[in-house]
Amino acid sequence: MKIFIDTANVVDIQKAHDLGILSGVTTNPSLVAKEGVDFKDRIREICTITGESVSAEVISLVAEEMIAEGRELAAIAPNVTVKVPMTTEGLKAVKAFSELNIKTNVTLIFSANQALLAARAGATYVSPFLGRLDDIGHDGIELIETIRSMFDLHQIKTEIIAASIRHPLHVQQATLAGADIGTMPYSVIEQMTKHPLTDSGIAKFLEDWEKASLEKVNS
Ligand code: E4P
Repeated sequence: MKIFIDTANVVDIQKAHDLGILSGVTTNPSLVAKEGVDFKDRIREICTITGESVSAEVISLVAEEMIAEGRELAAIAPNVTVKVPMTTEGLKAVKAFSELNIKTNVTLIFSANQALLAARAGATYVSPFLGRLDDIGHDGIELIETIRSMFDLHQIKTEIIAASIRHPLHVQQATLAGADIGTMPYSVIEQMTKHPLTDSGIAKFLEDWEKASLEKVNS
């Protein structure tokens, strides 16, 4: 599973990029609003950090307006993916973007049928929100598994982005469920790097090294 970062914070994007693990960025209106910056300027700035897919979401809810907005976003940089909400108007816009060779990420997917429709409309990516499903007592991972089976059975090339990832176990489960991509905050990436036995192992190695060096000096 490829790793995307889910943020509009350039410091976190740069940190993830520097680790060499980053295959893309997703943003949403809430994440951009939190930064208090101009939307297009921020997308442009993110595209200077990475040449990988950067999802930028349209705000309009009417297909014609989504198309106009998405075209402007796509003009910012060649790696911009237009993020579109899963609605009938969104599907019309996805069809238009697909004809214009503009990549799309259909967001707020909560059922396998929504994913199927988005894929058939021409979506490059679909984003099932597993954390938000877990929050209401549903099984987000099971949804990823169902979409994976459906897409494999019918040779659908649309990539599945496991979104709304909340913790490292979600990452492992989404990987095993067959998601192509997982998008997550930097805090989850950082948690994934850690294990208490790694920390205690490093401390012991250094302690032994220093002890041996001292013994050499004293002999
Ligand atoms: C995905 O593209 C969304 O931006 C994101 O994963 C939403 O996550 P949340 O449910 O933590 O807001």
